[in-house]
Amino acid sequence: SSNKRLLVLAGDGIGPEVMREVRRIIDWMDRRRSVTFSIDEGLVGGAAIDATGHPCPDETVAQAMACDAVLFGSVGGPKWDSLPFDKRPELGILRLRQDLGLFANLRPAKVLEPLVDASSLKPELVRGLDIMIVRESTGGIYFGEPRGIETLADGTRRGVDTEVYTEHEIARVARVAFDLARRRSGRLTSVDKANVMQSGRLWRAVVGEVGQAEYPDVELSHMYADNCAMQLASRPKQFDVILGSNLFGDVLSDLAAALTGSLGMLPSATLGATDADGRRRALYEPIHGSAPDIAGKGVANPCAQMLSFAMLLRLSFGMEEDARLIETAVEHVLAGGLRTADIMQAGRARVGTTVMGEAVMRELDKLSA
Ligand code: NAD
Ligand code: IPM
Ligand code: MN
Repeated sequence: SSNKRLLVLAGDGIGPEVMREVRRIIDWMDRRRSVTFSIDEGLVGGAAIDATGHPCPDETVAQAMACDAVLFGSVGGPKWDSLPFDKRPELGILRLRQDLGLFANLRPAKVLEPLVDASSLKPELVRGLDIMIVRESTGGIYFGEPRGIETLADGTRRGVDTEVYTEHEIARVARVAFDLARRRSGRLTSVDKANVMQSGRLWRAVVGEVGQAEYPDVELSHMYADNCAMQLASRPKQFDVILGSNLFGDVLSDLAAALTGSLGMLPSATLGATDADGRRRALYEPIHGSAPDIAGKGVANPCAQMLSFAMLLRLSFGMEEDARLIETAVEHVLAGGLRTADIMQAGRARVGTTVMGEAVMRELDKLSA
């Protein structure tokens, strides 16, 4: 048996479609590079609701605890949209992040040369762009109490969410961002709304303290989140590592995706703390969702899922060479001209999920011949 235990949670919509292409890469690695994974599959999201009545059954959490890394697809879809809030598919990913303690979501946004003119921005503004968004992923307004919809005495309703951050939660995700900045350009931008939010004031203070005490070599700047959105959409190359709360990080990373050409390209890694044995719980997920508008049509871009698997190889198993191989294969296929429909570029051949996946496989063969 293998010492590389993977849990695959394909989920809903395009999740299973793009995951199929990753499974081919896994089989290829088995054949060509003699890397054997021990693979478990589990239920999450709408698929889990249909089978068990719960978006994240205890069994799935137990499977996630027992493996070395989770490869996650996507959850959600119109079929489950009218379910009560505490039964929605999205709870699947939220519970996994929480129960596994995965507080740091790393969302790289890189503009690949063949996609420069697919960007929402002019080529000169994005060529070579390579930013890393570090999104806090187990706290903030996603989980704060009180929350809910209540009916007031006068019969009208009130919806409540609460943004809460403890000093500890801010400091640990800040360290992840500072460490990354140190290995990259030495610059970190922390975003908040310290001008209007109390949790934002604390965010700014704690990030500043951690920087001063532990990372005096990293150049830290603070920016309001609204300004950051504007700066990203107009002069993105000023950024290297961006640190933000659960909500700001979510929104800014979808914006960053538009700069790179497509949401269908961007992977992410969601990491927990490193334990005494140097082990770290981790889940890898594209930043896109289940894309109900194209699900079942065979046209989804599998690259984000493949690149999430590359991040898994690099960060959970230290397999830098294999990670690079997959990233290079994807880049070569794009350089060769193939495009899935989500990538806005004129005059290109449009191919479906399978053709894209097969092209990556052929490129892997070539690269390792
Ligand atoms: P989405 O990311 O699913 O889709 C947004 C747009 O991008 C759609 O037009 C979609 O077709 C396109 N797109 C996304 N990924 C693509 C890919 N790989 N290839 C080609 N096109 C792609 O976001 P949404 O439409 O706002 O949400 C749909 C559902 O997914 C909702 O239920 C939402 O809650 C859920 N969601 C889940 C996750 C997750 O599981 N991690 C993330 C985001 C949204
Ligand atoms: C993401 C998604 C999720 C989030 C939803 C589906 C809960 O948008 O992974 O980016 O908001 O975290
Ligand atoms: Mn999102």
